[in-house]
Formats: sequence, structure tokens, C-alpha cells
Amino acid sequence: MKREIENQIQNAAKLIQNGELVAFPTETVYGLGADAFNTRAVEKIYQMKGRPSNNPLIVHIADKDDLKNLTDNVPPIAKVLIDRFWPGPLTLILKKRSEVPNITTGGNDTVAVRMPDNSIALELIRRSKTLIAAPSANISGKPSATHHDHVKRYFGDKVFVIEGGSTQIGLESTVVDLTTDIPKILRLGGIPKELIEHEIGKVEDFEKIPNLESLKSPGMAYKHYAPEASLIIVPLGESMLDKMFQIAEKYKAEGKKVGIITQDKNSTFFKDRFETISIGKDLVEIARNLYAALIKSDLLQIDTLIVESFEEKGLGVTIMERLRKAASKI
Ligand code: TXA
Ligand code: MG
Repeated sequence: MKREIENQIQNAAKLIQNGELVAFPTETVYGLGADAFNTRAVEKIYQMKGRPSNNPLIVHIADKDDLKNLTDNVPPIAKVLIDRFWPGPLTLILKKRSEVPNITTGGNDTVAVRMPDNSIALELIRRSKTLIAAPSANISGKPSATHHDHVKRYFGDKVFVIEGGSTQIGLESTVVDLTTDIPKILRLGGIPKELIEHEIGKVEDFEKIPNLESLKSPGMAYKHYAPEASLIIVPLGESMLDKMFQIAEKYKAEGKKVGIITQDKNSTFFKDRFETISIGKDLVEIARNLYAALIKSDLLQIDTLIVESFEEKGLGVTIMERLRKAASKI
């Protein structure tokens, strides 16, 4: 690890111990972290993000053994998932110990836990000598940050940011509730549902149309990942590119600044006529570049953003779910 990063981790660990906030990279997206056991520190996260206080946080651990400080109840299927996917983009919901502050869990009797697959994050947690509660390091409702520059744009000088460059996966972790009879996916993410089912059998799907009253993962209810532009997703099909082009022309004629998000191979079709952001050649690259593309649309002050659809297999399911959320008006 570079000396400069080592120093940044050391500074950040001190800040965490002093009850301050720190933004740090994980393999998914940047997190806005605080000492998970320090109520006043955790309060600052909600304030800084403008996040409703009933929307619970994920606690990040550096060693599987840290789990015992959060829960007394690790069911056998949790062990299977932990062995297979940790460190990695999988968050498990488990019964919490009373020592875990209510503010960290949004008042729930459960706690969300994950062990990130990023050496900076792991080193930060170890040196902080506590566990780190962290949501994604963005203003509530905006796309998650996948580069330290994104975090700085959101929070300016208000938060110390470890400069870990771009994140590997680019989508948040998959959240699985293991406190119900049948495990349930509360949020799609970096690990596709098929891989989870391969390990533990059938899991219940997340609620596509969330029922606000009974919502287990309040974070899913709000407008999310949205760029400033109005976003139009053009469905898959033979004429998808032609349709995108027609829609783009229509808005351009109305005087709008039009942006296109497309995979690499289709970008030549648009790039001479519209602001074109090409985001990769396969689903892994598209996942990695998706939020950066939405953030870039804001920088370019795009009014109307037209996005192609991607095949809904594996990570493609999560990518399309995020795009639909970003396009929704509520
Ligand atoms: O990849 C990630 O998960 C990133 C990195 C930083 O680890 N974190 C992240 O946190 O995306 P956040 O706060 O943006 O999303 C956490 C999601 C929210 O939808 C929240 O409602 C849900 O997890 N969640 C957290 N604790 C929960 C709990 N006890 N029960 C149900 N859902 C919970
Ligand atoms: Mg988030």
C-alpha cells in the first residue's frame, strides 16, 4: 500500500476514534463511516447525508470474529453465506445484541453486517479498534460515489476522504434478511440472487413495489440514484438504438441538452450528434461505471438522459433495477 494512503488511513482511524466521520472506499461504493457504537458519531452520519433516521446503517467488520460483538445468533445458513461470500458485497441482516445502539439500526432489533473486500477499508476498521457503521457516501437520493472525487463533490471539506480511487464493483452490496423463516433479498446488489440461491436454496424476492407500512428496508422506499436530468430508459429490442436516436432528436429539437448512456459498441452511433457516455463492454464494466456515468451527466448539465437497456441476467438485474429507481419521480 502506498505511504500516502497509509497516512490517510491512520488519520482516518484517529477521526473515527474521536467520534468523527470519515469517507472510505470499499469494493462496492464509498462509505460514510462512524464508530458504530458511538451514538453521537452515528447521528452525524444522518445529518451529513440528510438521511431519515429510520433508515438503518450497515456495520462493517474486518474479521469474521467481529460478528460476536453485534449478534448472538448466527444461523447455519448465515455461516454458509459468510464462508462463500465474505469478504465481499453481501450484507446479512441478523438479530442484534443490545449493545448495538438503536440509532445504528434505525430502531430495529436487527443489525446489518458486512465484511468489505477492500484492503483500505479492512485496515481502517482494524486501526479504529471498533466497528464502522456506514451508508453509501452520497447525499440521500443521489447516485452513490464510486470514486473519491465524487465524495468530495458531495461533501466538500466537511468530511475527510481516503483517496482510494475507483471502486471495483460499483454497485452496493446485496442485502439478505436471515431473520425470517425464508431468507429474503431486501436489496439487489453486487452478488446476483442466483449465486445466493446456489448456496442456500430458494430465497424470497425483494418487493418491487415497496409497501411503505411494512417495509423492512426503508432505504428502498425513497427516490434513489437520481441524476438531475430526466432519465428515459429505452427497452431492449431490435430497434432500440433507432428509438434512442429518435427520442434524442426530439428533445434536442426542443432545445434540451441531450445525453446518451450506452455500452461501448453502440457509442459510435450517437457520439457525433449527442453528448455520449459509453460505460463498458460487458455487465461487470457497466456495473462499475454506472454511477460515475450518472454523476457525469450532472457535471455536463444534461437535461434529458437517454439510456439503453441491458440484459437482465446476473448483474444486469441489479443494473436495471438501479436505472429504474433513478428514472422514477417519487
Ligand atoms: O455496498 C454497500 O452496501 C455500501 C457500502 C458502503 O458498504 N453501503 C450501503 O449502505 O449501500 P446504504 O445505507 O446506502 O444502504 C443500506 C441498505 C438500506 O437499504 C437500508 O435500509 C438497509 O441496507 N438496511 C440496513 N440495516 C438494515 C436492517 N437492520 N434491516 C433491514 N434493512 C437494513
Ligand atoms: Mg445508499
